[in-house]
Amino acid sequence: MDDNILQIILKYGKDIIASEEFGRTFEQTHHIDTTVGDHTLSVAAEAVKLCLDRGYTDETTLKNVVTSALCHDLGIMGRKEKYANHAVCYVRHPLDSVDAYMNVTGEKDERVIDSIKNHMFPVKPVMPKYKEGWILTLADKISSVREKTGTQAVDEQVRKRILERLK
Ligand SMILES: [Fe+2]
Ligand SMILES: [Fe+2]
Repeated sequence: MDDNILQIILKYGKDIIASEEFGRTFEQTHHIDTTVGDHTLSVAAEAVKLCLDRGYTDETTLKNVVTSALCHDLGIMGRKEKYANHAVCYVRHPLDSVDAYMNVTGEKDERVIDSIKNHMFPVKPVMPKYKEGWILTLADKISSVREKTGTQAVDEQVRKRILERLK
C-alpha cells in the first residue's frame, strides 16, 4: 500500500482502527481466505485510491469514504450466531454496520449512513445516493476479487505496519 494512502486512512480512521470493536475484526474470517479486519482495511485502501484517481481529495469526501469503508462490515461480526443464512446476512449486515458506525464514532452522518447501508448494491437492489457510496461499493468488489486472487492491498505484513502506526 502506498504510504500516501495509508496516511489518509490513518488521518481519518485512526480512532476507528484503534477501537476495541475494530480490534475484534481480525479474529473473524471473511470470504474464506481473509479476516473481516484485513478485508476492511483493503477496502479502505481501494476506496482512497479510487478517490485520488478521480480527484475527490476534499476533506469531507475523504473522511466520509474512509469512515464508510472502515465501518461497512463491522455489523457482520458474529454472523454465524446472528444470521440464519447467507441471504439474511446480505440484507442485515449493512444495517448492523450502520449501528456499529454510530456506536464506534458517535457520529450520524447521512452520507456515511447511506453509503454503508447500500454497499451491497446490486445484490441488494437499492442504489447508493452519494458518490461516497458508489466508491465504497466499487472498492468492496475490487477488494473481494483481489482477495480471491491473492493480491489484496492488506495482508498480514501490511496489517502489522498499519497497527504499528497507531502507537
Ligand atoms: Fe459487506
Ligand atoms: Fe465488504
